[in-house]
Amino acid sequence: MVKTREQDYYNAIVQFIREEQRHARDLARFMNRQEIPLIRDHWIDRVFRELRRFAGLELSIIVLITAEIIAKVYYKALKNSTNSRILRELCDQILLDEEKHVEFQSETLHKLGKARSKTVNDCIGLFHRGLLEGTLFIVWHQHKSVFKAGGYIFSNFFSVCRYEYKESNKIVVGS
Ligand SMILES: [Fe+2]
Repeated sequence: MVKTREQDYYNAIVQFIREEQRHARDLARFMNRQEIPLIRDHWIDRVFRELRRFAGLELSIIVLITAEIIAKVYYKALKNSTNSRILRELCDQILLDEEKHVEFQSETLHKLGKARSKTVNDCIGLFHRGLLEGTLFIVWHQHKSVFKAGGYIFSNFFSVCRYEYKESNKIVVGS
């Protein structure tokens, strides 16, 4: 039973990694065609990668889901900001995939929290909210041109991300 569940989890993770790789590949191909240079290494990606490298499974998922929650808003903005049919379709595909990813990761966090007290889970929840909110300031600062072109100002970017977080957190706390 446990083995099967672990195998299912492993298969799902492999599937998600493939989807993320496909996103990166499709976006890179689009940018190449448009002759937009690729930034191979961004410091915020590096910080997130480092955080995950030193973290256990749960913290890794928290870091990952934080990025995915923000991605759900970023790709909506990117879609709104462009007339390119190809890019709009790409954004739709990524948004569909990220919806599933956030749901799945939230369910995993729920399972991991089940064995713990509410107080500990509340503390972890607070940490997650802090990580998300801190990251929102950095991401806005780095990508505000896309968000603004997609119709966002900082306050609604912030509240839409917080809404996405709350939806995910409902699954995490099991309400
Ligand atoms: Fe994802």
